[in-house]
Amino acid sequence: MSIFSKVLDPMRERLPLDKFNLKSMVYNKKVPQHKMKWAYYLGGLALLFFTIQLITGLLLLFYYQPTTEEAYDSVKFITEQVPGGAVIRNLHAWTSSAMVLIVILHLLTTFAMKAFEKPREITWVTGVILLFITFGFSFTGYLLPWHQLSVNATKVALEFIGVVGQYLPGEYSKIPHQIVELIQGGATVGQETLSRFFAIHVVILPLCIFAFLGMHLLVVQLHGMSKGVDKEVTVHEKFFPDFLIKDFSLWAIVFFILFVLAITIPIDSFFPYPLMEPYNPLGSTPEGIKPEWYFFFIYYPMEILPFWIILVASIVLVIILFLVPKIFAGTSRKTLAFLAILAFIYFVIMTVFGESIVTLVKGGH
Ligand code: HEM
Repeated sequence: MSIFSKVLDPMRERLPLDKFNLKSMVYNKKVPQHKMKWAYYLGGLALLFFTIQLITGLLLLFYYQPTTEEAYDSVKFITEQVPGGAVIRNLHAWTSSAMVLIVILHLLTTFAMKAFEKPREITWVTGVILLFITFGFSFTGYLLPWHQLSVNATKVALEFIGVVGQYLPGEYSKIPHQIVELIQGGATVGQETLSRFFAIHVVILPLCIFAFLGMHLLVVQLHGMSKGVDKEVTVHEKFFPDFLIKDFSLWAIVFFILFVLAITIPIDSFFPYPLMEPYNPLGSTPEGIKPEWYFFFIYYPMEILPFWIILVASIVLVIILFLVPKIFAGTSRKTLAFLAILAFIYFVIMTVFGESIVTLVKGGH
């Protein structure tokens, strides 16, 4: 075997560009039919949510002003004065939560179905990057309305990065603070922070997501659906048009549900009014500052465990996530499903009962 084929063959196997044609990517594509077949719809739902975010986000841009003086009022103006503005804003907020949830479920199900297995490593790794981009969108978007909750929650999150410095030796201990100042654009959260978060939210992350989502979808189509279960699958469905018709019908139903939520339940109604007041840089931090619900799985443990444990656990988790195709190459789907269910149970418990657990543990001291 020549040196070229040693390098090129594994690449061709992972990125089979010879299959880049409508026949293999669309007309001949088949979807295996088995008890986990519902999970094949989750990636498509993530795509629907991303599309909704893109369209509603662009519409919000017509009126939103990224300055500390005008941001709050511009959001208020969108909600109260612009025809349809409240629906668009609510849709953006509801869909952001829905997107995070579905991306997490998509990750857990593709893990359980071993869809990361060779030759699908690129699909998995681009997926992990998409997960972090999705979190990045929600973290930067949270600051933009510039109310008490958004600014104070961002401050708390950035302080956590600063704390990492305590665990680093000598000169290195300054690095986390320098990173915080770089993100903030100054000593505290202010106009520079808003400008940076705005640029990251509306330009940098969209460019990144286009690149990685493009790659993700390309490899998904080139490889076709993974088989999903350990047993041999004999029944298949045609991707075009059968699977796609069901996929789009599901999109219509889910969009309808989100739309009903957006017109009936304003996202601000989940928080007591003082948290929704314009941010006051001279005031004290109000009670009840929390990150978005999908960060609870890491936020509540931080309240009870020493920070270094969370830090080490997070670093290990990120490394494991990227190395999943290597680490779990020989693991059975049964074990993978068990691990995915455990992770899901942990996520639900921390999200729903995290606050009570913290009160219980702290109250016990
Ligand atoms: C913005 C976020 C994402 C979008 C829009 C997206 C979209 C999609 C779509 C449309 C599919 C094909 C349908 C399906 O199998 O569900 C897919 C497949 C896949 N995705 Fe994602 N995805 C995202 C994030 C992720 C994440 C976070 C992971 C895991 C780390 C991941 C891993 C995979 C894998 C392994 C497949 C192949 C499934 C198979 O071959 O059976 N994706 N994705």
